[in-house]
Amino acid sequence: SAAGPLKTITKRYVGSAVAVQHLTTEADYRSVLTREFDSVTPENEMKWGVVEAVRGQYDWSGADAIVDYARKTGKTVRGHTLVWHSQLPDWVDDLDAAELRGVVKDHIRTEAGRYRGKIRAWDVVNEAFNEDGTRRPTVFQEKLGDRYIADAFRWAHAADPRAKLYINDYNVEGINPKSDALYALVKSLKRQGVPIHGVGIQAHLSLMYGFPAGVRENIARFAALGVDVAITEADVRIPLPVTPEKLEAQADYFDQVWDACHAVRRCVEFTTWGFTDRHSWVPDVFPGEGAACLFDENLRPKPAYTRINP
Ligand code: XIL
Repeated sequence: SAAGPLKTITKRYVGSAVAVQHLTTEADYRSVLTREFDSVTPENEMKWGVVEAVRGQYDWSGADAIVDYARKTGKTVRGHTLVWHSQLPDWVDDLDAAELRGVVKDHIRTEAGRYRGKIRAWDVVNEAFNEDGTRRPTVFQEKLGDRYIADAFRWAHAADPRAKLYINDYNVEGINPKSDALYALVKSLKRQGVPIHGVGIQAHLSLMYGFPAGVRENIARFAALGVDVAITEADVRIPLPVTPEKLEAQADYFDQVWDACHAVRRCVEFTTWGFTDRHSWVPDVFPGEGAACLFDENLRPKPAYTRINP
C-alpha cells in the first residue's frame, strides 16, 4: 500500500491475535505479521486450559515462544486471558469456594508473575456479563460472588505492577444493556481504587447483525471514567458466499471501528482476531460465515485493509 504498513499510519498500537503453530511453520504468515503489526495477542497460548490443563503442571511453551517473537521483533504483547469461564480445565470446576479462591489467586500470580515486565496489557477478566447486563453465572461468579473481579485485578497488579489491566468483553461495542453494566462496574471499581486501567472491546462483528449503534459514544464514555479503551479482537464475519458487495460492506464496518477508536484519545489499541482468512476461528464457530479478516487466504490485502490504509 502507498502509505506503508498499518503500524506506521497511526499512533495506536495495531495488533493481531497470533497462533504459535502458524508463526513457527509459515514464513509468509510470520512476515506479514511482523511487517504490519506492533502488538500481538496469543490466540490460545496463555489461556488457563493451555498453560495448566493438569493441576500443578504448567506448559509455557507456546506463550514463551510468542513473547520471545515479540521481543525479537520489537512488538508489545497483550496477555489473554487470566480469568475466563471458557477453555478452563475441568479440575477448576470441582473445587469448593475457599480452594477455588486460592487457586485463582495462585494462577494469576504464577502467570502474570512469569511474564512480569513483558506484557503491555492483560485481559484480566474476560466475558463476565450476560447480554442483559447481569453477571454470567460462571464458576467464579457462583462460588466467589461479585468480588472475584476486584480480587483478580488486585492480584494481577501485585504480580505485574506495570502492566495495564483490562476487563474485556464482546457485544459491548455500542450502547446496550451489556455495555451499560460494564460501564457501571468499571465506574464502581475505579471508585473503590481497584487497579483497573482499561476496557477491552472485542468487536466480533457480523454483516448479519448490522453495525452497532453508538460505538464512538460508548468508547468516549469509558474513556471519561479515566480508563483506556482497546479494540481487542476485531473481525467482521461475512455470510457466505463472499461477493464484492459484501467485501465493501465489511470494509465499511472495519473502517467505522477504526475511526471510532481514532476519535477518542484514550482508545489506544486496534487489534484484530487474526489477520488472514487462512486462519480464523470464524468458520469453525459460526457455520455459514467466514472471510472475517483484513487479508485473504493468500495474504493479499482485502478491501477492508485498503479502506483503512488507502
Ligand atoms: C477463540 C480462538 O480464536 C479459538 O482458536 C479457540 O478455539 C476458542 O477461542 N473471545 C475471546 C477469544 O476472548 O479468546 C476467543 O478465541 C474468541 C472469542
